[in-house]
Amino acid sequence: MATANRQVKLARRPAPGLVTRDVFAIEDSPLPEPGPGEFRVKTAFVSLDPAMRGWINEGRSYVPPVAVGDVMRGYAVGRVDASNHPEFKPGDAVQGLFGVQQYAVSNGKGVVKVDPNLAPLERWIGGLGMPGWTAYFGLLEVGQPKPGETVVVSAASGAVGSIVGQIAKIKGCRAVGIAGGPDKCRYVTEELGFDACVDYRGGNLAADLKAACPKGIDINFENVGGEILDTVLTQMNLFGRIPLCGLISAYNATTPPEGLKNIRYILTQRLKLQGLIVFDWVDRIPEAIRELGQWHAAGRLKIREDVRDGGLDAFPDVLNLLYTSGNQGKLVLRV
Ligand SMILES: NC(=O)c1ccc[n+]([C@@H]2O[C@H](COP(=O)([O-])OP(=O)(O)OC[C@H]3O[C@@H](n4cnc5c(N)ncnc54)[C@H](OP(=O)(O)O)[C@@H]3O)[C@@H](O)[C@H]2O)c1
Repeated sequence: MATANRQVKLARRPAPGLVTRDVFAIEDSPLPEPGPGEFRVKTAFVSLDPAMRGWINEGRSYVPPVAVGDVMRGYAVGRVDASNHPEFKPGDAVQGLFGVQQYAVSNGKGVVKVDPNLAPLERWIGGLGMPGWTAYFGLLEVGQPKPGETVVVSAASGAVGSIVGQIAKIKGCRAVGIAGGPDKCRYVTEELGFDACVDYRGGNLAADLKAACPKGIDINFENVGGEILDTVLTQMNLFGRIPLCGLISAYNATTPPEGLKNIRYILTQRLKLQGLIVFDWVDRIPEAIRELGQWHAAGRLKIREDVRDGGLDAFPDVLNLLYTSGNQGKLVLRV
């Protein structure tokens, strides 16, 4: 039986740019004991999410910043190993915001019981977890896709983007991805079944996008921002929708990002651009899990994880892979 709990804590606020190891303190603390109405989870996999870079910055956002000295915020999946909670029994597989640590104590709020017989544990923090829910609600609720429309999604081979394009196909749309490099683009078309994928590093983004979207773009599911969003804007159709999910190209910026050059297309094409945060649909998570799970079981939704070893000590380096295009699918760390 373990006596210590390895934890990743925020040691200091980061300077702009990729995080350095000294931003985090990775250390052991005593194994926490669950109190009345609580249970303890032994983490199996921790989720690495682009938002983590924003969560450790000072400033106004959709959640308060992680406080210096606190355990790093993060989704994880694991099994209950001790419980004083009537609904959570030892051995239950659970997913939640347990933090970047080996053991977490919870009262069950926001925790989702998951079925490891339906999908491996790590998938429940990936395509069937928060990134999957983001794709599901962001595309269907904000994007409002209709059969025959063209849906473009950036970071298309990643955790959220890969699901967005596949749901677009399920809903009868033309799905076009934008991704970095020929290997990722091949994966997006050949494995995930998108109609086309544009390599934004190919040096021809506008022309390649035009060729991939001969009828223009009705929905742009934006994960990246910057040059990519600026280029897509010029090809949006009248009354197009832009679910603004992420701006990863700016998360490590060392100078303030430039403004949009082509903002006038929002006016002339009467576009709707709406930011989205997955927590807005917290009450509907069971619906997303049911739908995504059914598509996955039916072979209509392919999901890929990029599982990294090295334990919690590898956390800072593995996190940076998200911002340097080093991940191939949903990035998770085996604990
Ligand atoms: N709003 C919400 O509630 C919510 C929830 C979850 C995620 N998100 C957002 O969704 C986006 C995708 O997240 P994810 O978890 O699915 O990550 P991911 O796509 O699995 O991994 C990140 C990918 O972003 C691309 N990228 C990184 N820096 C880039 C740059 N400078 N220019 C172009 N592409 C770049 C890379 O793909 P390439 O190799 O193709 O460059 C990288 O592999 C992020 O912006 C994230 O913040 C939002």
